[in-house]
Order: sequence, then structure tokens, then C-alpha cells
Amino acid sequence: MADLSINFAGIKSPNPFWLASAPPTNSGYQIMKAFDTGWGGAVWKTLGVPVVNVSSRYGALNYRDTRMMGFNNIELITDRPLRDNLREIEEVKKRFPNHAVIASLMVETREQWHQIVKDVENAGSDGIELNFGCPHGMCERGMGSAVGQEPKVLKAIVEWVMEVATIPVIVKLTPNITDITRPAMAAKEGGANAVSLINTIQSVIGVDIDNFVPYPVVDGKSTNGGYCGPAVKPIAMNMLKNCAQHPQMDLPISGIGGIENWRDAVEFLLLGANSVQVCTAVMHYGFGIIREMADGLNRYMDEKGFATIDQMVGKALPQVKNWEDLNLKYKVVAHINENKCIGCQLCYTACEDGAHQAIGLSDNPLNRIPEIIEENCVGCNLCSLVCPVEECITMERRDDGKSQLTRADRTAAGTIPTTFNDDLAGGLHHWVPTPADALVKQVPKHYKYVNRN
Ligand SMILES: Cc1cc2nc3c(=O)[nH]c(=O)nc-3n(C[C@H](O)[C@H](O)[C@H](O)COP(=O)(O)O)c2cc1C
Ligand code: SF4
Ligand code: SF4
Repeated sequence: MADLSINFAGIKSPNPFWLASAPPTNSGYQIMKAFDTGWGGAVWKTLGVPVVNVSSRYGALNYRDTRMMGFNNIELITDRPLRDNLREIEEVKKRFPNHAVIASLMVETREQWHQIVKDVENAGSDGIELNFGCPHGMCERGMGSAVGQEPKVLKAIVEWVMEVATIPVIVKLTPNITDITRPAMAAKEGGANAVSLINTIQSVIGVDIDNFVPYPVVDGKSTNGGYCGPAVKPIAMNMLKNCAQHPQMDLPISGIGGIENWRDAVEFLLLGANSVQVCTAVMHYGFGIIREMADGLNRYMDEKGFATIDQMVGKALPQVKNWEDLNLKYKVVAHINENKCIGCQLCYTACEDGAHQAIGLSDNPLNRIPEIIEENCVGCNLCSLVCPVEECITMERRDDGKSQLTRADRTAAGTIPTTFNDDLAGGLHHWVPTPADALVKQVPKHYKYVNRN
């Protein structure tokens, strides 16, 4: 069995799975239950001057049969008195001394920061996370993402915190910014020990079209919220990759955003996260998902020969390049496995209307299996992505595997297109039907193309 334990900027945890600061970490009761179920750490629901929340608070994006594919909230930080939270942090640490308890904090003045940092340290917290990410409510008061969007302000507040902190400090970043590496670097310059990302994305989740008000509805009105859940994972991973690849970014990173199973966690670790945090998936399915997550990660590590988490962190990063460094000689084309094809012809429609007219239909109505017109296939993957049958459309390699030519090479050699009608353009190498062909109704038209000589 692999060793799942981590030392994250000095915060020790039996595994890399932490609960993100959110409703699942509202109370000592929930955190003890989570640790007992197998979670390695928990970032306490953000502490500060307790708020008064609205009711209702959440909205969801359901996609077809999948509920809560995206999730949106307009709640604020903790609504419980600080003294209750501090007492419970102490209790949790006594009962679970080897688990990671991280206090998430958000206050305004330097004096408040100094006081609350000392308070959570005295209660026994293993680390502190500064919430510079919340994109609703708190930012209107100059906190949360309002800080995360201003690297200078962020740095100044981190410095206030570092004046008194004696335990590791993590800065939680907002994705509501063009270049997340700027606040990440400001956090480092301010003296932070680590960063975490992402907090929620500012959003409007939907509109009640009968009553003309967005969700969630609060007495006939609404406000923008923070978006999270599986739908945000690609955005989170891109921001993680950007931070992890930044040449001056050498702080540990806690990855957050849409993680709900061991595979998601592995992807974040491979892109440079040293721990992962989960919120929406626990709000959806409960603490029990940790069992499958920890088992799955363990199995994966054994299979790949990773003895420790550190050995796998960032393993995918060397393969992430700038576009101009990708091999232009690499060539794949779609291939349909006729034994698996169910004849739905979704691939045909997708390629015909949304790609490169590289799939033909038979003129025999009894034969519903489409055919790839290889000469026209640019290898975009679209058909294989829409095909409902696993492994029915595969992408097959056609180049010799030996040639390498990048946009950067071509730029250096002076062989990139430079004029509007340049013979060097890529589009000249695949065939495009004439516009009037679109109005020809009879089927089949594509076999004409296949055999057109
Ligand atoms: C209802 C709700 C409340 C949240 N409250 C906080 C909070 O108090 N502090 C904080 O740093 N992040 C808060 N978050 C953001 C989460 O910690 C996390 O960054 C975000 O949800 C992305 O992770 P996920 O996709 O796993 O949910 C909250 C998220 C939700 C859904
Ligand atoms: S989408 Fe897949 S199953 Fe449907 S016709 Fe195309 S290859 Fe066959
Ligand atoms: S890979 Fe793209 S271009 Fe090729 S057949 Fe599929 S959809 Fe068409």
C-alpha cells in the first residue's frame, strides 16, 4: 500500500483529502464525523465577524439527468460566534491530533487580523487559510475576492498576518481574475507558505422565467453568487497548471474545484497540487465518498509504482506546453468500429454541421453505419466525443511518428503563412464542399465525395 500521508507546507495530514471551507465544515460535529469517516484534513468554514445570511441561498445547474453539475451559492462566512468555533476547533484537535485542522479567516483591519490569527493558533489550528476568494456579499464590503483581485492589497494583508502567525499560512485565491499567477506571486511576496485555488466563480445560475428573477430567489429578488461543482473543474485545473508552472512559484498548492472522485484528485495532483479540497461533492453525496477516493488513489498509486504522494505531484506538467511547441506533423484520423456502431449517426451530424464534412452515409437505407472520409478528416476528435458507444470511434495515428515540426520551428524557418491568401496555410490541405452543395437535398451526397477522384 502506498503512503498517502502528506506534509503540506508543514501541515501534516494522513492523506491529501481535505474538506474545503464551506457548509460541511461549519461545526466541530461535522468535522469529527468527516475525520472519523476518513478525511485527512478540514478547512474550517471561514471565521470572522459572524454574518447574518439570507434564505434561500443555493441554486444548481442540472444537466439532463445529472443533478448539481454546477452549484451556486450566495451565503457568506460563518454565522456562528467565534468563541463557539474556537472551542470546537480545540475539541476536534484533542480528539484527532494527527488530522489537519486549518482555520479559514476573513476580517478587515490589521488589528482584527492579528487578533483572530492568535485566537485560532491558541485553539490549536494546524494552519490558517486566508479567504481572499469569496465573490459575493463579502466582496461588496471590501473583503474576499475584492482582496484577491488586487495583488498589492493582498500582499499587504498577507504581511499583516505574517507579522503574528507562527503556523503555516495558505492564501486562497479567487478565479475571478484574468491571470491568477499575479495574486499567487503577491501571496508569495507577502510571505505566505502556500496557496490554494480556486474559490467560487462569480455567476448567475439561472432565471425564473415566469417571475423574471434569477435564482436563488430571496423574497422576489436575487444577487450574483459563487459557482462551483464538477462544471468548474477544467477552469480550476487550468489555473492550477498556470500557478504550478510559473517559474517563480515554489509554494505548495492545494487544489480545489469540482473534485468528486479519486480520478479528479489524481488529475489535480498530476497538475501540481500537493493536497486537494472538496466542497460540492460532499454537499451532494456526504462524507462517505472519501472511502472510494482514498481506496482509488491507493490502487492507482500501487499500479503506477508511486510510493508517496510527492512522487506523483506535477507529473503531467512537463507535458503541458505552449501551443507553438506542439508537433504539427502528428496526424490522427477517426476510425469507426463497425462491430460496435449502433447506427445512431450522431457522428455524421456533428462532423457534417460542426466540423469538416468528413463522414459519409451509405445510399443503402439498411446500412446505417457511417464511413470516415479520411482525406477530409482533420483529426479534431469531435465524432469520437459525441459517439455514445465507448471505444466505437477511435483516433488512429497516421504520421510516421518520427517527424517533429512545431509552429516555433516554422517561425524560425520562415515557413509560416504571413499573407491572407498564403499557400502555406493549413486549410488548403483539406477539401471543402462548394457553398451551393448545401442546398442539394438528395442523399447520399457524401459517397460522391469518397469516390470523387
Ligand atoms: C455553500 C458554499 C459556501 C462556501 N463558503 C466558503 C467559505 O466560507 N470560505 C471559503 O473559503 N470558501 C467557501 N466556499 C468555496 C469552497 O470552499 C470551494 O472553494 C468551492 O466550492 C470550489 O470547490 P467545489 O467545486 O469542490 O465545491 C463555499 C462554497 C459553497 C458551495
Ligand atoms: S456516433 Fe458512434 S454509434 Fe453512432 S453512428 Fe457514429 S460511430 Fe456509430
Ligand atoms: S475527427 Fe473531426 S473531422 Fe474527423 S471525422 Fe471526426 S468529426 Fe470529422
